[in-house]
Amino acid sequence: MRTISTVAFIGLGVMGYPMAGHLAQQGLITRVYNRTAAKADAWVKEYGGSAHTTPQEAAKGADLVLVCVGNDDDVRQVTTGGEGVLHSMESGSILVDHTTASADLALELDAACRERKVGFIDAPVSGGQQGAENGALTIMCGGEKSHFDHAFPVLDLYARAVTLMGAASSGQLTKMVNQICIAGLVQGLAEGLHFAEQAGLDQQQVIDVIAKGAAGSWQMENRHKTMIADEYEHGFAVNWMRKDLDICLTQARRLEATLPVTALVDQFYADVQRIGGGRWDTSSLLKRLRKAE
Ligand SMILES: NC(=O)c1ccc[n+]([C@@H]2O[C@H](COP(=O)([O-])OP(=O)(O)OC[C@H]3O[C@@H](n4cnc5c(N)ncnc54)[C@H](OP(=O)(O)O)[C@@H]3O)[C@@H](O)[C@H]2O)c1
Repeated sequence: MRTISTVAFIGLGVMGYPMAGHLAQQGLITRVYNRTAAKADAWVKEYGGSAHTTPQEAAKGADLVLVCVGNDDDVRQVTTGGEGVLHSMESGSILVDHTTASADLALELDAACRERKVGFIDAPVSGGQQGAENGALTIMCGGEKSHFDHAFPVLDLYARAVTLMGAASSGQLTKMVNQICIAGLVQGLAEGLHFAEQAGLDQQQVIDVIAKGAAGSWQMENRHKTMIADEYEHGFAVNWMRKDLDICLTQARRLEATLPVTALVDQFYADVQRIGGGRWDTSSLLKRLRKAE
């Protein structure tokens, strides 16, 4: 495997932009590609490195190529597609996919990489925009241990925890567990705050009292203030959550796993989309309850 000095980052969105920034700040030669070129230009202005007009071009000569785009089809487009990174990646380099995508896609990419003697790691992240900006993401990885060990020091530059969960697709399966756990939890938090409001309690005081006890959670800690203020123009978009829950529910059917609450909350998110909240944070489940009054 090649010593990692040059990296390519594909997809400078809410997550990718700061993640790529950490790599450049730590001295790696960073080549970037973004579909909307203006974002790549802004990134180069802020961090240095170089912007390229296609993923294939950006990946030229890179020892490690990192991708963080939207969904399965977006990943295909920038990897195996016409001007995708796999057309220029050299033997001994490694492809890391940070997109939250399906387990099938991870297996598909793993096979495509093997054909070209390129390593592959599916590496979805958790921790949101804040985690990406602060270099404090949790990264769940699937792939071969030798590839993981080689890529680890680079992923560690923007992570609080980077863990190999097993063979290719294990990272995506772990991220599915993460999303399943969050779905029911956020609905519970929304119902609790809704109940507190209806009961005429001071919602902030209620949270101050219960947050340190058994009901406490990351969502409660980080989202209660904006939920009480009815502010949702931030955070992790409902549209992305529905994409993730679709992945979870499809995989669950195949595994014969039963996810009744996840399926129900997915429908609640469809309600939020119908009232115009596709880009709102996932905590907007509370808005749906208030709306129903
Ligand atoms: N935001 C979060 O809190 C969060 C947390 C954990 C995981 N994730 C996951 O991380 C991934 C990225 O999320 P994000 O919030 O960074 O999304 P985002 O802000 O919408 O950025 C998506 C990026 O992908 C690019 N892209 C999308 N489709 C493409 C295509 N077909 N070809 C080329 N580029 C394409 C976009 O380019 P343009 O600039 O041209 O649109 C943009 O750079 C998603 O899978 C999401 O589920 C997000």
